[in-house]
Amino acid sequence: MAANKILYNLNEIFCPVDPGHPLKGAEMNEAKILKNGYIAIADGKILEVGEGEVPKNLIDDKTEMVDLTGRIATPGLIDCHTHLVYGGSRENEFAKKLNGVSYIDILKEGGGILATQTATQKASFENLYDKSKKLLEHMMYHGVTTVEAKSGYGLDWENEKKQLEVAKKLDEDMPIDLVSTFMGAHAIPKEYIDNPDAFIDEVIGMLPKVKEENLAEFVDIFCETGVFTAEQSYKLLKAAQEQGFKTRIHADEIDSIGGSVVAADLKTTSAEHLMVITDEDIKKLADAGVIGNLLPGTTFSLMAEQYAPARKMLDAGMAITLTTDSNPGSCPMANLQFIMQLGCLAMKLTPIEVYNAVTINAAYSVARADRIGSLDVGKDADITIFDAPNLDYTLYFFATNLCSEVYKKGELVVK
Ligand code: NIG
Ligand code: FE
Repeated sequence: MAANKILYNLNEIFCPVDPGHPLKGAEMNEAKILKNGYIAIADGKILEVGEGEVPKNLIDDKTEMVDLTGRIATPGLIDCHTHLVYGGSRENEFAKKLNGVSYIDILKEGGGILATQTATQKASFENLYDKSKKLLEHMMYHGVTTVEAKSGYGLDWENEKKQLEVAKKLDEDMPIDLVSTFMGAHAIPKEYIDNPDAFIDEVIGMLPKVKEENLAEFVDIFCETGVFTAEQSYKLLKAAQEQGFKTRIHADEIDSIGGSVVAADLKTTSAEHLMVITDEDIKKLADAGVIGNLLPGTTFSLMAEQYAPARKMLDAGMAITLTTDSNPGSCPMANLQFIMQLGCLAMKLTPIEVYNAVTINAAYSVARADRIGSLDVGKDADITIFDAPNLDYTLYFFATNLCSEVYKKGELVVK
């Protein structure tokens, strides 16, 4: 069969191995790296990937040949944890943060997530749409082809729905794919400050509506001192699973209060952050097969002491991903490449571990590994091209956008 398009003369092609489950422990340091490679695409899917000269049987008079001499290719990058849709911004809290006021203290004063709640409630659908679209464009220009997007700045049904509908419309309108997560339990709204249990019940009451309107696949909650307890998290996520949602949990970001145990008990798809996770809980997540979605940009931006102990997690046999956490407070940015570089520079991960984290494992984290995350024949032709001589270069030469082209389902969407 001839291809519609062939990308060729690629210095290197990073090909993750997809064993049918997220790569765990030492598996994360394995991948095929093809030299002088080509990628043949037909009907938006991967037709063939190989080394050396392009086989003649792949070419007919309609095949578009794209010479990418001097560049490398990877599967389209996947940003599997973002708070994409929100109103306003929080640079007004920046000086406080630099003066050492903690993230949770800013939230307690009614700032932080609650300030973004007010701005999001005030914002129109169009305003949120335009703002999130710009963020998505930044993400795409940095090589991302699929993004997970959480709600969680509405904190009431009307405004949570508005955020989820914005994500849905962007998924329809933009070449990048969005995977939606309902995070109604992201902070305790003022009215419920003395009765967070009642708010959890309120959020549980929203689940059937999210389902009915097909607004999200995942449910997430912020399990943290001063926000939601492990018991409240368990209650919400259990109810979500019973209604057919996949689940995640923000756990062990600032304090270790049992969020990882909830993740292990409920076998959630992933647990997020894990900056201060205990050795015992790492073992629990590894045994339960929960993916650790690690967010080193948040550690960096919060100027926290401890990055998530990625190496310990791999030694214990866990699967991990790296992701931005893109949000207006703890990580205001939209460049997954920088997060990958922190994966190396701050967490001492190898380039292969880093690329597996943002491709095949991130695909499992968003429950899309049947379609994306590797360059296996038949998967979507989501491909990121870097103007770099080899894979290592893209992590060594940091904080500079090296992405030169992006293909989504075989179409050139960034040039
Ligand atoms: O993952 N921790 C909770 N949620 C986000 C921050 C959201 C915000 O500050 O607006 C996080 O860090
Ligand atoms: Fe987050």
